[in-house]
Amino acid sequence: MLLHLFALLVAASTAGLIFAGGLVTSTGSGLSVPDWPNTYGWFMLTFPIDKMVGGIFYEHSHRLIASMVGLLIVVQAAWLFKVEPRLWVRRLGYIAVAAVVTQGILGGVTVLWFLPAPISIAHASLAQLVFCLTVSIALFTSPGWQRADTSKQAPIDTDQPLQTIAILTTVLVYAQIIAGATMRHTGAGLAIPDFPFVFGSVLPPYWTPQIAIHYAHRVGALVVSGCVLATVGHVLYHHISRLELRRPSLLLLALLAIQITLGGLTVLSGKHYIINSLHVVTGALVLGTSLVLTLRTCRPRFVVNVSGSTKRDVLQESSRTYELSGEWSSPPGVPGARV
Ligand code: HEM
Repeated sequence: MLLHLFALLVAASTAGLIFAGGLVTSTGSGLSVPDWPNTYGWFMLTFPIDKMVGGIFYEHSHRLIASMVGLLIVVQAAWLFKVEPRLWVRRLGYIAVAAVVTQGILGGVTVLWFLPAPISIAHASLAQLVFCLTVSIALFTSPGWQRADTSKQAPIDTDQPLQTIAILTTVLVYAQIIAGATMRHTGAGLAIPDFPFVFGSVLPPYWTPQIAIHYAHRVGALVVSGCVLATVGHVLYHHISRLELRRPSLLLLALLAIQITLGGLTVLSGKHYIINSLHVVTGALVLGTSLVLTLRTCRPRFVVNVSGSTKRDVLQESSRTYELSGEWSSPPGVPGARV
């Protein structure tokens, strides 16, 4: 339980880091600190607070928060290594460490190379994947998920259409986020200056690359909304009694409405930095919620596929369980796997 609470803290801190990163771009502070990994020649942690003014405040705070989150993710991996019997969950912890280190390097390189769009877009996109990893670890270590893993009852029915539409929704939300990052880092945020219309109509009167990117993000919002409505509608119609699906569904709907409102306000406010950054972090929350819903809809299949994936995994998991608890037990979803 303690590990789960820590994993929740890691996920929440990662969301906070994404907000802080959003502030850096939204305030145009990306190059306020020209060097990396040092800050104006100072070791990052010893940079004087009274020098954190203007854009330096946003950029340097982002670096400090990122270091703290990186440390939390390393501690999480070590904790998983120590107590987690499921090999694949431990592996997720190591992947999260590799991802956050890569993320830090991308952040440094984008500064040293004067914010080239492809690297900045990669930095923004990987940030969302790091968040997804932390959310997944928090979910997999939750008592609810583990109860279902070890439950003697038959797995909850497999609803194939729901799984398909939920997976599609999560993938499309991520694609929409990449489109948003592309728009942001190619200066296309105000290429269409009105909302909800497009130059007073539904189609732009002329096309430029920036208008096309911006328009794609708006069409993307419509497509994502359709998928979210289909997923949530399916859950409410067929699985209304299942709290673990109903709750993230309703949250997803609410977050989507907030996200679209924030997107519109970002344009109408001429990219106000707070609204803009809230739009970035709410995008992450939409993605994370959609991912949780997807993983829960796929749980019966997931348990069989992952835990029972290879014989060697089964062997390793069994011996690990023995090492940690002192007694043999079957890995989740693998009845009688005491090999
Ligand atoms: C499913 C709905 C949406 C999602 C998930 C989403 C997500 C995002 C994300 C994550 C970013 C920033 C990417 C980054 O730099 O890391 C972004 C940028 C942006 N989004 Fe959205 N968005 C959605 C809908 C909308 C809508 C309806 C609008 C209205 C026009 C909009 C307007 C914008 C603008 C203007 C930017 C760029 C801001 C800038 O240039 O700094 N978004 N979006």
